[in-house]
Amino acid sequence: MNSIPKEICDRFAAHLYKWAEDYPRQLPWKGERDPYRVWLSEILLQQTQVSRGIIYYDAFVSRFSSIEALAAASDDDVFKLWEGLGYYSRCRNMLKAARLIVNELDGRFPSTYSEILKLPGVGPYTAAAIASFAFGEPKAVLDGNVYRIYARFFGVDLIPNAAKSKSHFQNLADQMLDRENPARFNQALMDFGATHCTPRNAKCETCAVRDLCFAFQHNRVEELPRKKTPIKKRERRFAYLVITDESDQTLLLKRPEGDIWAGLYSFPLIECDENHIFEKELETFLSQSGLEVLNSVQHSSKQYKQTLSHQKIFGSFYGIRVNSVSHYRLLAETAYESVAWSSLGDVAFPRMIRQYLEDRFSSLFEF
Ligand code: ADE
Repeated sequence: MNSIPKEICDRFAAHLYKWAEDYPRQLPWKGERDPYRVWLSEILLQQTQVSRGIIYYDAFVSRFSSIEALAAASDDDVFKLWEGLGYYSRCRNMLKAARLIVNELDGRFPSTYSEILKLPGVGPYTAAAIASFAFGEPKAVLDGNVYRIYARFFGVDLIPNAAKSKSHFQNLADQMLDRENPARFNQALMDFGATHCTPRNAKCETCAVRDLCFAFQHNRVEELPRKKTPIKKRERRFAYLVITDESDQTLLLKRPEGDIWAGLYSFPLIECDENHIFEKELETFLSQSGLEVLNSVQHSSKQYKQTLSHQKIFGSFYGIRVNSVSHYRLLAETAYESVAWSSLGDVAFPRMIRQYLEDRFSSLFEF
């Protein structure tokens, strides 16, 4: 690839900075240099809208004011604070990284891009953001926003997930970076992509760089960047058994590693695609459970839907009344636990279960 004339890089950066002054964006981590806080914000913002990220960022920094405090917290407490944010592997990796830094690095946050990149849950984008914001290292961030800006600015026709696309854009991003002010440049670029050079309805009429922008000049802003080829999501049907007893205890299990929502809690679950199979499986489950069933399907819920990155989950909930959940055959030897209804507000659930509980029992709990 040819090198980009320095004059273009300089003019782009100057316009970008002017834009950032004209359209200031208040973000609680802006200008932050404490690597713990920068890292936390970047982890929370992965696959998350900024407006949601702000709420969780404020909650995390006020609850865990240092990496030591976070590393010392229990998994359940951290999962509970994370509840609703989704992509729970991020939460697990965040805890792993915090404990690694505290236990193996003496609490000192790694200070170079290549060391930061070794942390669990940190990819090139996050490492570049942390290295530039916290340590002033000249590393260019490259995510969907930056792709879009440069695809339009330079008129790049590559499909984003094509093999050579990534290195092409990384090369552009590296050349365009203002190496004297990497933090300022990266933050302004992120904000510009998120609020001005947006996927739809880009605000070209007030864009500072439109005179230099290929897509604007050639009327191709709507077409660029080229769209990713969509992946087909796997569809799964979950039937949750909300088993309650006379003392208002219910059965929960902690979801195991190796599937979605690992580490979060769930009601016992039958996964199947067909209704008549569910009924058979429910019968088998109950007859083998050791539970004394008082009312086998006391109620059933509407169907809930949750879309994850690679899967679409359809969930329904079936209330089952039993004499005592403590008779459950597997209680002693598996991940099942008997939990009081009144404490469900403290348990970390996937969004779908939390939604069901709120719909059905909102008057019973304070969440
Ligand atoms: N997205 C990821 N990191 C960000 C940041 N530091 N500011 C705004 N949006 C972001």
